[in-house]
Amino acid sequence: MSKEWLEIKVRGPLRGLSPGASKDAVIEAIINAGSPGVQEDSAYFPHNLILSHSSWAAPDDEAADIRNNAPICLTAYLDPDFRGVEKLKKDLKKQGWSFSSSSYRDKDWSVKWKANLKTIRVAGHGRAVVVKPGWRTVKKKARDVIVEIDPGMAFGTGGHETTRMCLKAMLWILKDKRFKPAASIFLDVGTGSGVLAIAAKKLGVKKAVGIDIDAVALGVARKNARINRAKIVVSSKSLEDVRGRFSIVTANIISRELKRLAPALVKRLAPNGFLILSGILGHEKAGIIEMFSAHGLEFVKGYSRGEWAAVVLLNI
Ligand SMILES: C[S@@+](CC[C@H](N)C(=O)[O-])C[C@H]1O[C@@H](n2cnc3c(N)ncnc32)[C@H](O)[C@@H]1O
Repeated sequence: MSKEWLEIKVRGPLRGLSPGASKDAVIEAIINAGSPGVQEDSAYFPHNLILSHSSWAAPDDEAADIRNNAPICLTAYLDPDFRGVEKLKKDLKKQGWSFSSSSYRDKDWSVKWKANLKTIRVAGHGRAVVVKPGWRTVKKKARDVIVEIDPGMAFGTGGHETTRMCLKAMLWILKDKRFKPAASIFLDVGTGSGVLAIAAKKLGVKKAVGIDIDAVALGVARKNARINRAKIVVSSKSLEDVRGRFSIVTANIISRELKRLAPALVKRLAPNGFLILSGILGHEKAGIIEMFSAHGLEFVKGYSRGEWAAVVLLNI
């Protein structure tokens, strides 16, 4: 049966001019409005790229579009009963983005975006985490761990820069000879699809826990744990209610929330435990390091990809 959608098309300011809201911020606003995915249309090329929460990979044509100073064009599909459309339109217009909407009937769109999810390989220190949707096959190399993800409506197919940097940092920590994965316990605060907790478990940690405030994400994370036969704990507990100390804690959430959670995050770290923070915009990195240093942690490593940064801090 076909379904009625509200098709929205948004167009950013010229890239050479003030960018207004970033592409990621606009995608996030649209996803938060309930779209299962966001499609990026190249201004100069006929084929499109479909993006989800977690596969905001750069389209092949992006370099060409940037050279041509082309604006970013996005298409997404919302429930026609979505009441926040006027607010979304107003917010985007304030940031210099144009907005148009029309009704659209299609039976396949809600699954079409999934078909475009790619396999992601994050390698480091002789190992790699390969995150793939179920319908793709990959040739497994000797020291690969494969994480199969059905993201549903949750963030986390591994493709987003912020997730990739967490995986990189995890590989870096776990390669340290002094670090004993089999004796370590892992906590992911804001687990989304469960991708990091499942990867940690498959990389050999003794116990992996993922918590989230979003009921949909919790369901998706549990489903993915089953798909991967990974015995992880998925919980709706708030961070403040989690007990125990963890050898590695990851939190890929926006900076404002990381700052709010700082005391609780630090409390959950075992002595010599590592805290991986991601979801930080480049210009916010120094402030985050300063804040967590004031809580007694030492900054040990930083990563950056595009506009995003991630940091690793040690509980000395
Ligand atoms: C960007 S996603 C990260 C998903 C996954 N960990 C990854 O790295 O791909 C952030 C997740 O954090 C959750 N979240 C936001 N604030 C939170 C909080 N205070 N406690 C727990 N989860 C939170 C959101 O619901 C969302 O699922």
